Amino acid sequence: MNVTEAVKSRRSVREFLDKPVDLETIRRVMDTARWAASGCNYQPWEATIVTGEPLAELRAKLSASPMQQAEYDWTAPGQEEAYKSRLDAVSREMFGAMNIARDDTEGRTKAMMRNVTSFDAPAVMFIYFPRLMKEAQWSDTGMWLQTVALLLREEGLDSCYQEFMALYANVIRDFLGLDHDRYMLFCGMAIGYRDPEAPVNNFERERVPLDEQVKFLGF
Ligand SMILES: Cc1cc2nc3c(=O)[nH]c(=O)nc-3n(C[C@H](O)[C@H](O)[C@H](O)COP(=O)(O)O)c2cc1C
Repeated sequence: MNVTEAVKSRRSVREFLDKPVDLETIRRVMDTARWAASGCNYQPWEATIVTGEPLAELRAKLSASPMQQAEYDWTAPGQEEAYKSRLDAVSREMFGAMNIARDDTEGRTKAMMRNVTSFDAPAVMFIYFPRLMKEAQWSDTGMWLQTVALLLREEGLDSCYQEFMALYANVIRDFLGLDHDRYMLFCGMAIGYRDPEAPVNNFERERVPLDEQVKFLGF
């Protein structure tokens, strides 16, 4: 698989096959991902990847816990119409693929709450970093995460990033033994093999046309 194929075949997968992710494969991915760039070479990202019994235990805890206030705000851009309409479009397609009507609030909530069990993915990575990290290091962590996602594709694996997990930061930090004062829980990443038949893994996603976002000067 070349890079273009990895980029184009990556999508957020929300229905996984019942097939474990083996340690050797995931270690290979994470080992290579260390070569992602970061400002000042700070390499701010830290993570724990959980599977098997510990994951079942954590899922039981998450399912029994109320959501908390998120420690950072990922919703702010939605106040502007252009960004709100991008969210509306992906929601329409995703819930449509699951046959959940626009006004079916209960159905939408139920589908959204599948985030709690990471869509039953066989492995979940939790990503965190010291709270002293600022915008630049959050962005570095994003680049590292994209690197991980592409390397997973090379191994035939799939993923779904989950900022939703920030709504359970305290439970997750407790479980992972992370100092609450020191660590920001950024997100989760569901990892596994996609169910190729699942409609939720096959709906059309929109992207902004290239020339609306990128200008080319001097060519
Ligand atoms: C940092 C980050 C956090 C995300 N959090 C969630 C999440 O909590 N739950 C979810 O279902 N999708 C989540 N997504 C997936 C986005 O909805 C998805 O990337 C976007 O709709 C584009 O679709 P694609 O990934 O299939 O190309 C997240 C993506 C990113 C980059």
